[in-house]
Amino acid sequence: MTLRSVISGVGSALPRKQVSNAELAERVDTTDAWIVERTGIRNRHIAGDDESTASLATAAALRAIEHAGVAAADIDLIVLATATPDQTFPSSATKVQAALGIDDCIAFDVHAVCTGFLYALSVADSMLRSGNAKKALVIGAETFSRILDWEDRATCVLFGDGAGALVLSAEETESGILATKLHADGRHNDLLFVDGGPSTTGTVGKLRMKGREVFRHAVVNLSAVLNEVLTAAGLTTAEVDWVVPHQANARILDATARKLGLSPDKVVVTVDQHANTSAASVPLALDTAVKDGRIKRGDVVVLEAMGGGFTWGAAALRY
Ligand code: COA
Repeated sequence: MTLRSVISGVGSALPRKQVSNAELAERVDTTDAWIVERTGIRNRHIAGDDESTASLATAAALRAIEHAGVAAADIDLIVLATATPDQTFPSSATKVQAALGIDDCIAFDVHAVCTGFLYALSVADSMLRSGNAKKALVIGAETFSRILDWEDRATCVLFGDGAGALVLSAEETESGILATKLHADGRHNDLLFVDGGPSTTGTVGKLRMKGREVFRHAVVNLSAVLNEVLTAAGLTTAEVDWVVPHQANARILDATARKLGLSPDKVVVTVDQHANTSAASVPLALDTAVKDGRIKRGDVVVLEAMGGGFTWGAAALRY
C-alpha cells in the first residue's frame, strides 16, 4: 500500500440565472447556430449580484463535504483555483474557510486560469502525500462573466460561471491519484489574457483572446500531456474508463479524443450546458458524471485542462 490522495466526495454549484444562446443573441451580434456549430455551447450560468466566486465555491465545498460524509472541521487544507477572486486579497480560499466555520487550516488560492484546478489538485496531492495535511478541499470556482467584454462576440459567448469541489483524503491505498503532470509556456501569454490588473492599470480589465491560435495549441498540448500522465501512471489509453476534460469547446474535446484514439463515449461533456467555466469546469464535469452514475468507484479517470499562460496539465486517478 502507498500513501495516496483519494477522492472522498465531490460537489458543485451553479448560479441561479441561466442564459441561452438565443438570449445572448438579443444583446450581441451572434446566433444560436454559430455558437453551437463552432463550440457546442447551448447554455451558461451567470452569477447574480448576490453571488460570487467565494459564495459559489462555498456551496460546492459544502456539497463535497456532505458527499464525503466528513465534518468541515476535519478539513486541514483548502486550495482554491481561480482567476476571478472576490477581491485582490484576501484569498477566496480564506473566505470559504470562514464561511465553513473552520477555525484553523492551511488555505490559499492557486492561479493558472483554466488549468487552475489541475494545478490545485497537484499541489494538494503533494501536500497530502508529504504529510502536511490529511484532508483537503480542492476547489475550482470562477465568475468569468465579470471580466467579459459583453461587446466582443468572439469571447463573451464562450464563458460561464460556476464552482466544483473535491474532498481529497490521504489514505494507504492503491487507488486515488496515480500521477499528475503540469506545464506552462509564458511565451504565449498574449494569446489569452486580461487587459488589466492591480499592478498595471489598477482596473480589473477584460478578457482578450486570439481564439484560433488558442485552439491550435490546445489540441497539441492536451493530447501530449494526456499521453505523458498515462505513461507516468503506468496506464494505456485502452485502460481509461473516463476522460473528464476542461470544457472549453466541443471541437477541442473531439479533436483531442481522436488524436489519442479514445472513444468519444468515454469523454464527459458538459460544455453544452455550462460553457467554459475556466478552473471550475473539470470539477463541475466530474461531479456531474459521478452523480449521474457514469463514473463508479474503481474506474480509471483522466482529467486535463489548458488555459491562459499558456498553462496545461493532466491527472490520472483510480476513482
Ligand atoms: N457569432 C457570430 N460570428 C462570430 C462570433 C459569434 N459569437 N464570434 C466570431 N464571429 C465571426 C468572426 O467575426 C469572423 O467573421 P469574419 O470571417 O467575417 O471576420 C468569423 O466568425 C470567424 O471567426 P474566427 O475567430 O476565425 O472563428 P473560429 O472558427 O476560430 O471560431 C472560436 C472561434 C473562438 C470558437 C474558436 O477559435 C475557438 O474555440 N478557440 C478556442 C478558444 C478557447 O477554447 N479558449 C479557451 C481556452 S481555455
